[in-house]
Amino acid sequence: MLIVKKLLKLKNILEIWRKENKSIALVPTMGNIHDGHLKLISIARKNSDILIVSVFVNPMQFENIKDISNYPRTLNEDCQKLKKNLVNLMFIPEINEMYPYGLTNQTIVNVPKLSYILEGIHRPGHFQGVTTIISKLFNLIKPNIAYFGEKDFQQLVIIRKMVIDMNFDIKIVGIPTVRNQDGLALSSRNIKLNEYELKVAANLNKVMNYMAHQLINIEFNIHQIIKKAKIILVKNGLQPDGLAICDELTLKKLTTDSKNAAILVAAKIGNTRLIDYKKVKLQ
Ligand code: PAF
Repeated sequence: MLIVKKLLKLKNILEIWRKENKSIALVPTMGNIHDGHLKLISIARKNSDILIVSVFVNPMQFENIKDISNYPRTLNEDCQKLKKNLVNLMFIPEINEMYPYGLTNQTIVNVPKLSYILEGIHRPGHFQGVTTIISKLFNLIKPNIAYFGEKDFQQLVIIRKMVIDMNFDIKIVGIPTVRNQDGLALSSRNIKLNEYELKVAANLNKVMNYMAHQLINIEFNIHQIIKKAKIILVKNGLQPDGLAICDELTLKKLTTDSKNAAILVAAKIGNTRLIDYKKVKLQ
């Protein structure tokens, strides 16, 4: 596996692969590689000649400096895992090469509307940080296909919209969430939870299942479902921090035309904020 830090080196290697007509897949990450990432990587591995995994803790998508310094960094372990999973190139760019003029001088790629609802309300500036770094990675690597986890569902919807709006010729694939035996979605943030908190956090998935069951079988009163779900979360030791049931394509209110609903949940356990997503077939 090639490990590349410099943009110029990346460019030179990519030129060779492109001349050889290789298809290129990209899995963008912020490192701390877990089984959720490895699922994306194994699917990407099967479908392309070249697999690139980027590891970059993107400062632009964090609302506060404390969060960036607390972000788990496990570069050596990540490197071993990527090698074992037959990744061709691990791209670990440096901040000063990605943002040479600083963050405040950086041109921003922003997907309007979608970036300001749901998670966007709780995390101002977060999604424009994501779309800016992803468009930079897309321009640098020009992959044919890129893979993202469905757990960060709003991120996936926003990236799909950005690809259409900016005419990126890149196929975006969303991969279902990997869960532990208790149903907790795998996430780099889980590392911050102790054994007891991990058990408590598993209630997030249980609440999503409850919401899905209510939606399909019992009632269509979204407001009531969310109200009850919040009560269940609190009873189980979680602090709700954004629950929604919306149309999977628009992230807006469900309509009679909606084919699938997206259940999006965010809750805090101590200082750790977790998010999750579930799809519900309506028609
Ligand atoms: O989901 C993530 O890990 C990040 O938001 C991403 C897509 C790698 C952009 O930094």
